[in-house]
Amino acid sequence: MEMIVAKNYEELSQISAQMIAEFIQKKQDAVLGLATGSTPVGMYKKLIGYHNKEGLDFSKIITFNLDEYVGISPNHPQSYHKFMKETFFSHINISTSNIHIPRGDQPQIEKQCESYEQAIKDAGGIDIQVLGIGSNGHIGFNEPGSSPEEKTRVVQLTESTIQANARFFGDEALVPRLAISMGIKTILESSKKIILLASGEEKANAVQGMIEGEISTQLPASLLQLHKNVIVIADQPAAKNLKMINKSLNSVYV
Ligand code: PGA
Repeated sequence: MEMIVAKNYEELSQISAQMIAEFIQKKQDAVLGLATGSTPVGMYKKLIGYHNKEGLDFSKIITFNLDEYVGISPNHPQSYHKFMKETFFSHINISTSNIHIPRGDQPQIEKQCESYEQAIKDAGGIDIQVLGIGSNGHIGFNEPGSSPEEKTRVVQLTESTIQANARFFGDEALVPRLAISMGIKTILESSKKIILLASGEEKANAVQGMIEGEISTQLPASLLQLHKNVIVIADQPAAKNLKMINKSLNSVYV
């Protein structure tokens, strides 16, 4: 894993956006795996800036999002469809037919999960997968205990994730209990490169365990140690529990 400790959230957003922008300049039909949550919002804003100011072209870009809640429609204010549209897609020149996000409101979810896996394969895999990390170490909605053998499927959210996401729904009781998520196997096998973003002190234990701990399904992000091309970009509060790195260094290989 490569580890970059950013001074702050602004720098984390800038570094990650620049990596993606440079990749897109080289490969106009890049396939991006995208994440929701608060952490990548700054990165999306910077990418919109590259599009507006420097003409970064998204017209041939293909995207696959990690996950979506089950039981809410794309128009629901808290759906990840809506989040991605408002935060990113409606501000760039991406073709809507190139956007893939699981649908949590359709029958035959299992069939849909299989088609999602197939669509990723048909696109040639994911060039860059962006990930956040939960304070419990989840990636996507792969909660502690998820098997590294699992692909896109319906998952049960843990209590800690429900509580963490209650801030968006206003009331914990309104947070869906189920979601569709790409699996750890999907992430490990289809991603050529993974950029994991972590911001804030509440992620410090998970970040430390992911990088310095044993590989364990109890901390799903630690399974990323099995992938050979992962860059973790953490701001200083999220990196504060790492033991082996000198925090004055900006970039460290572990
Ligand atoms: P956050 O979520 O970016 O809102 O902290 C990350 C995650 O739960 O994966």
